[in-house]
Amino acid sequence: MRLILEIWRQDGPTSEGRYETHEITDATPEMSLLELLDRLNHQLVENDDDPVAFESDCREGICGTCGVDVNGVPHGPEDNVPACGQHVRSFKDGQTVRFEPFRAKAFPVLRDLIVDRTGLDRIIQAGGTVSVDAGTAPDADTLQITHDDAERALDFAGCIGCGACVSACPNGGAYLFTGAKLSHLALTPHGREERGRRARGMVAQMEREFGPCSQIGECALACPADIPIEAIAAVNRERLRALFTAKAN
Ligand code: FES
Repeated sequence: MRLILEIWRQDGPTSEGRYETHEITDATPEMSLLELLDRLNHQLVENDDDPVAFESDCREGICGTCGVDVNGVPHGPEDNVPACGQHVRSFKDGQTVRFEPFRAKAFPVLRDLIVDRTGLDRIIQAGGTVSVDAGTAPDADTLQITHDDAERALDFAGCIGCGACVSACPNGGAYLFTGAKLSHLALTPHGREERGRRARGMVAQMEREFGPCSQIGECALACPADIPIEAIAAVNRERLRALFTAKAN
């Protein structure tokens, strides 16, 4: 397959960016989009040009490092699939495919397709943890949780922190990410201990760096972990609970 790649190149955070056009003539339908970038880099290095900087690690949808915008869509054309799981077969022979870094004010470009996503880490640092006293492992039935709650908590715990929801949001909001973390911990017994403090800290930090939510829902379509859109409502629910519940700790 022949594909024309338009790639965002930017030497550093303060450099001006530009698009570069390259042609790949030996792409195969089963290649992943990251393998397509590998192929391009092989070609660039053979010609003594700088390879394109992009992030990846697991290449199987677990780590969340592989975020790029493909033809304006976070991760690529297939809904709820990370870039490492998207394939060249989604494009037609001869098609132009544009790769850009995630576009969001809170994600400054570091180089080429790599952005700084530490804004998400700062939301977690503001309260996305539980404090559990170390000691003897408790019996398995000490902490009561229903099967349904455990399953729901696991659904929200699936967030891989890639930031696609932020890039998909026209406001650069991080509601889906923050709501997933708040919901996951609020549903588990050990996470309820610091529920109010967590909600206040994480929501305040989210609002410091990320935009508001207009409930468009693009974030849930882009999310490779299939985080349900109810996560957005959880942000306001947890925030209000922390404000009005006397026992909120
Ligand atoms: S490289 Fe780990 S999720 Fe894509």
